[in-house]
Amino acid sequence: MRIREILNKVLILLLPMREVKMEITEDGSHTLFVPGMNEHYHSTHGAVQESMHVYIDAGLRQCAKNEIKVLEIGFGTGLNAFLTMLEAEKTSKKIDYTSLELYPVTSPVTDKLNYAELIAPHKKEVFHSLHTCAWEQWEQITLYFSLLKLHLDFSKPSGFHPERKFDVIFFDAFAPEKQPEMWSQEIFDTLYSLCEEEAIITTYCAKGNVRRMMQSAGFSVERLPGPPGKREMLRGRK
Ligand SMILES: C[S@@+](CC[C@H](N)C(=O)[O-])C[C@H]1O[C@@H](n2cnc3c(N)ncnc32)[C@H](O)[C@@H]1O
Repeated sequence: MRIREILNKVLILLLPMREVKMEITEDGSHTLFVPGMNEHYHSTHGAVQESMHVYIDAGLRQCAKNEIKVLEIGFGTGLNAFLTMLEAEKTSKKIDYTSLELYPVTSPVTDKLNYAELIAPHKKEVFHSLHTCAWEQWEQITLYFSLLKLHLDFSKPSGFHPERKFDVIFFDAFAPEKQPEMWSQEIFDTLYSLCEEEAIITTYCAKGNVRRMMQSAGFSVERLPGPPGKREMLRGRK
């Protein structure tokens, strides 16, 4: 094991942890359930299906650039990062992916996640590397995909000072009822200020007050059909 991997494991042990249980969603892919919050990481109708619909189809694929800077709020299981990496390799677009996380999921759990086996069995090692690579520094994961994982509490968004602005934002916090502090006007104002011109932000949430906060931050917001099991989702554009 490389020194960096050992340091990474030590760092993870020092970070705040949360009890999670693994479950299978209706499309056969895993999600995690947080008993303390009574909340899932993904739609129980299908985790991969939801991520593809909300973040890849409605978000990433709407950006015409050949070099794309993505910001994700909530790294979690690494599913959105994995799907984005696959897209980068498929389209030969260079993607720099910054992901923020307050409670990194630990390796006994991430080792068992079935995303790679279901979507791209030949990329199992790559999925693993998304979790084992170091935090707080850029890591070149594949030819086209690089990752910066930051351990950070985004409910205090003024603490985040990225060196560049973003073309695509995946807003994937837990639901507003469970985590109201992550769905504030200050958060959406900050996200707007971090956007390149014509940037896109997507979220699975379609609540009226979230749409209004996004609009008030400056985004043009549309309601789109949601993934299976969910009527609508939101997409904003700068
Ligand atoms: C709905 S889950 C989605 C995770 C991830 N996108 C995935 O596909 O697994 C929400 C994520 O946001 C993280 N989170 C919660 N509060 C946070 C905070 N204040 N700052 C940063 N991340 C946070 C959670 O730990 C969790 O990983």
